[in-house]
Amino acid sequence: MSDDLGDLFARRFADKTAVVTGAASGIGAAIARRLIAEGATVVGLDIAEDALVAMAGEFGDAFLAAPADVTDEDAVSSAIAAGVERYSGIDLAFNVAGASRYGPITELAADDWDFTVDLVQKAVFLCVKHEARQLVAQGRGGAIVNVASLNAHIPMVGGSPYSTGKAGVEMFSKNAALELAPAGVRVNAVLPGLVDTPLVAPVMGFEPAKNMFLERIPMGRAAAPDEIAAPCLYLASDDASYVTGTSLMVDGGWEISNYANLTSLGAS
Ligand SMILES: NC(=O)c1ccc[n+]([C@@H]2O[C@H](COP(=O)([O-])OP(=O)(O)OC[C@H]3O[C@@H](n4cnc5c(N)ncnc54)[C@H](O)[C@@H]3O)[C@@H](O)[C@H]2O)c1
Repeated sequence: MSDDLGDLFARRFADKTAVVTGAASGIGAAIARRLIAEGATVVGLDIAEDALVAMAGEFGDAFLAAPADVTDEDAVSSAIAAGVERYSGIDLAFNVAGASRYGPITELAADDWDFTVDLVQKAVFLCVKHEARQLVAQGRGGAIVNVASLNAHIPMVGGSPYSTGKAGVEMFSKNAALELAPAGVRVNAVLPGLVDTPLVAPVMGFEPAKNMFLERIPMGRAAAPDEIAAPCLYLASDDASYVTGTSLMVDGGWEISNYANLTSLGAS
């Protein structure tokens, strides 16, 4: 790549401001770091206030720590308003915050269902609502990327609220794309497979469980958070100027692996 092209790539998001939820860890932190490296300013929402403050210390004027519980509409609206005030508007949004409670359906407490679906699904609605209001009011378009999961397509034992919530995020993103296209706001979803972040530390740190996951992944490894951040940034960039209402599976081939593989029996 010539220096000119390198500069262009490095400045892909110059003069853009992005809201990133879940910015304090894992995929959200990787998105925030990449955006800043490519010229953007970032409004980071998370409940992990200390980690946000540390990022603000590291990135200075390029990062606003906006602590907020994304399931709380007032907190979301105030945090986005703080970002708008600080950077005179927003251009992009990445809705990444997430976590889950697990349990078999016959035992699962309604509170655990509500906790999970509120966080992975309703919070995406609340964030898109307030991000999109701002983008529409500004009248210069924009792009929103919602992080769902492979589990939007593939169920998991004990994970019914998470999988159901993530499936809802995928469909909600299409609804939002439809409603916001006239305003020039694109909305897409990214569906990661296994990503090496604190969220899945219990799996990655327990070899037998990790190997059961890796057996399912044709590429034979988990993704690094940066490998999810990169396609998220692509969908938010002008390279994706005609892409809206779609879902991008980023799973090392996991979704396509669920068929009998007879090669170990000598089949070719
Ligand atoms: N790691 C994976 O394998 C994987 C796979 C598919 C999808 N995902 C999804 O990617 C997203 C990011 O996950 P990650 O792996 O980076 O996890 P992570 O735990 O590293 O980061 C999640 C962040 O969300 C924040 N958060 C949690 N609840 C919040 C709330 N109520 N309000 C605001 N912030 C809150 C956490 O504090 C944390 O900083 C999640 O939506 C997750 O479901 C992850």
